[in-house]
Amino acid sequence: MSQAFLEAVRPLLGPTALKTAPDALEAFAVDWRKRYVGKPLAVLLPETTEQVAAIVRLANEHRVALVPQGGNTGLSGGATPDASGSQVVLSLSRLTRIRHQDSDNKTLTVEAGVTLQQVQEAADAMGLLFPLSLGSEGSATIGGNLATNAGGTGVLRYGNARDLCLGVEVVTATGEIWNGLRGLRKDNTGYDLRDLFVGSEGTLGLITAAVVKLFPKPAAVMTALARVGGPADALRLLQLAQAQCDAALTGFEFMSSVSTGLVVEYFPDVARHGAQMIGGQDGKPGYPTVLLEISHPESQEAATTMLDRLMEKALEEGVVQDASVAQSVAQAKALWHLRETITLSAAEDGPHIKHDIALPISSLVTFIAAMDQEMQSAYPGIRLINFGHFGDGNLHYNVAPPPALAAGKTKTERHQIFKDFLQTHEDTIRKMVHDRVVAMNGSISAEHGLGQLRRDEAKRYKSAVEQNLMKTIKTALDPNGILNPGKVL
Ligand code: FAD
Ligand code: MLT
Ligand code: ZN
Repeated sequence: MSQAFLEAVRPLLGPTALKTAPDALEAFAVDWRKRYVGKPLAVLLPETTEQVAAIVRLANEHRVALVPQGGNTGLSGGATPDASGSQVVLSLSRLTRIRHQDSDNKTLTVEAGVTLQQVQEAADAMGLLFPLSLGSEGSATIGGNLATNAGGTGVLRYGNARDLCLGVEVVTATGEIWNGLRGLRKDNTGYDLRDLFVGSEGTLGLITAAVVKLFPKPAAVMTALARVGGPADALRLLQLAQAQCDAALTGFEFMSSVSTGLVVEYFPDVARHGAQMIGGQDGKPGYPTVLLEISHPESQEAATTMLDRLMEKALEEGVVQDASVAQSVAQAKALWHLRETITLSAAEDGPHIKHDIALPISSLVTFIAAMDQEMQSAYPGIRLINFGHFGDGNLHYNVAPPPALAAGKTKTERHQIFKDFLQTHEDTIRKMVHDRVVAMNGSISAEHGLGQLRRDEAKRYKSAVEQNLMKTIKTALDPNGILNPGKVL
């Protein structure tokens, strides 16, 4: 059946758009963290929506499972095929046209494979702003961003990918094309199909294009790195910043000393830029910090005054212990680079247990205090790589094995030791974190999605009613179970 499918698909695509050679499949078979290693039968790289639709119709005919993939930067294993050798990766990365720009409506219509960075650049060229911002934006695609309902650093001001999307074009799981490319901010004409596909992680339909929402570009953006005593100070700083800056506060990221310590250890040149605030160099203690960003609609002067006033008050009230304001775009970029390098540093350190939790902002401090205590007493020496989008209530409360386990070992040995640790303890640790999150009315995935990493966890916490509704939707839209089986549900 599978070979017959490939033979049927071949004439639809150009010669480079159907890959079966093992070395050509490698990059599509493994996720960014190298946690999941799949074995695809083939990789298909169509260039048009019509080609995508034809592939899906043939997949239904031949009952071949398709695994949608964009930039393959996802952190939940959603874009990785299983190891059966029968699933086909359907990459949307060659759908790269910018179809329409509408400055007055402040929208862009882009195909799924356009990278997030390219969308930002296209908006910038229109004199506007596309505010979705992720560390992976150079490779992640807008299709993947919408399929995962990505969050990132601007959510507290602009919302997540769902909030930034006005319309989608979708190839359904049975191979029809739905043109929902409406650039409307209001549209109450029945069920919201757009929002059904956004965040569905490739299990309900293939997003082939989207209309995204743009914003006026701020006149000035200022960034500061502030040293705080801990999460309680971070919360006080957030309240102060929101009271003083209101909608001008466009970024508020918390970084524990352990998380920036990883950057110091593995990418010292990157850490150098925030050295005075984060500490942790030359055997000195590290400090928790907050990276915050102000975007002002009027002028550089107004932005500077606003940030200076905020920092003065924060210092005066003892909310921050020290602060450094970036004096140039290059300095601001360097501070953001420090923040975005935590993930890469963690990957260098070895396999960690990643969490992506959301809590009411009012519960963050209590959660961290109680969780830190519970973790440290259950696993003395364990490292809590706690960082994230504090301003919207999303923490990456990651857990790493005690470094003492791998003292004096090579990188390869360390990675193996940490892998073994995870094998024994990951399920218990994950449950400890998620049980507490759910008990505090939080979510076990704020922005990365369930994929295959959290699929079974979600089953534990979602009610039977919710799970049945989700299954009913899946069966109705994808009766043959063609799209991304084994993910989400
Ligand atoms: P992929 O990884 O290719 O796919 C992700 C999921 O979407 C899969 O389930 C796949 O099947 C599905 N999919 C992909 N394209 C389509 C499509 N066109 N139609 C239907 N389904 C599709 N995420 C955040 O939310 N916030 C962050 O701050 C953030 N920072 C990151 C930093 C780093 C260094 C890295 C490596 C990742 C980060 N991520 C972050 C995770 C990741 O970049 C996002 O989830 C991103 O949205 C994935 O886009 P992608 O194109 O790489 O999708
Ligand atoms: C981030 O906020 O940096 C990303 O979501 C990546 C991660 O969780 O490691
Ligand atoms: Zn994040």
